[in-house]
Amino acid sequence: MDREGELSIIRAAYAKQILAAAGVDNARLDAAFSAIRREDFLGPGPWPILRWLRDYALTPDTDPVYLYTDDVVGILPERRINNGQPSLHAHLIQRASPAAGERVVHIGTGTGYYTAILAHLVGPSGRVTGIEYDSELASRAKANLAPDSNVRIVEGDGALVSFDEADVIYVNAGCTRPAESWLDRLADGGRLILPMTSDRGFGASPPEQMASAGAVFRIERRGPDYLAAWISPVAIFPCAGNRDEVSERALAEAFAKGGWQQVTRLYRDQEISEERCWVRGSRWCLAYS
Ligand SMILES: C[S@@+](CC[C@H](N)C(=O)[O-])C[C@H]1O[C@@H](n2cnc3c(N)ncnc32)[C@H](O)[C@@H]1O
Repeated sequence: MDREGELSIIRAAYAKQILAAAGVDNARLDAAFSAIRREDFLGPGPWPILRWLRDYALTPDTDPVYLYTDDVVGILPERRINNGQPSLHAHLIQRASPAAGERVVHIGTGTGYYTAILAHLVGPSGRVTGIEYDSELASRAKANLAPDSNVRIVEGDGALVSFDEADVIYVNAGCTRPAESWLDRLADGGRLILPMTSDRGFGASPPEQMASAGAVFRIERRGPDYLAAWISPVAIFPCAGNRDEVSERALAEAFAKGGWQQVTRLYRDQEISEERCWVRGSRWCLAYS
């Protein structure tokens, strides 16, 4: 068997391992993780693998086999920008449930690996817009995804770049608030995957404390309403732009009091009593009922 044949078997085993680690049973997602070549998105090896959320260790050589584990890999390690953990993304993408033909916006595309997974899931009749703030990473994503006719990469701030109505908005950077534009442009029935992190959520705290400083919410639009549910703890690179001191403080206090697992609704511009709110920002809140 040639090397590419061996790697496709390794990739298929990896897909099964990471879906099992995420507790996800989804043949379409399995096919996407089996098909997309992670090595095509991470530059030339050896690659820096993040160990214990702190230090990077280079893979022993340039064999792509080392990329088919459930590890975080540095894409700009000097700035601690990483290709996220595969099982975390398997879980979050499962909850976003992108269907064939749907319109996805991926904010924080990085070099495009998970954008390619999303593009595989929506197929040729769907489309994915990847937005990346860092210009070097946006250029790398554009080059990596050039063959995918259903993908467009835009360099910019995902909270400010304008985009059409979307069925899925998949955010891959830690925010302290939802951007108005994400809530506005979520289609009826659409799903927003939103990581919210306080300033302790990435790098500032010991790993064992990070789980209580970052939470991913799934927001589903139902007409004028937004259903909300906590779906995962997270430690993730901060979103450029979509953070402010007031909501950062409110979020840190909300994490300190606990109770994010009980959130069921996101409200905009509505008077919601203090006891129903988990966290309140300017013109929005995440609430228990
Ligand atoms: C944790 S990295 C994830 C990269 C990619 N999703 C992956 O796993 O390979 C977060 C990315 O979000 C980008 N980012 C941060 N703020 C952003 C914003 N406001 N708009 C678009 N991208 C942003 C960063 O530059 C970084 O590439």
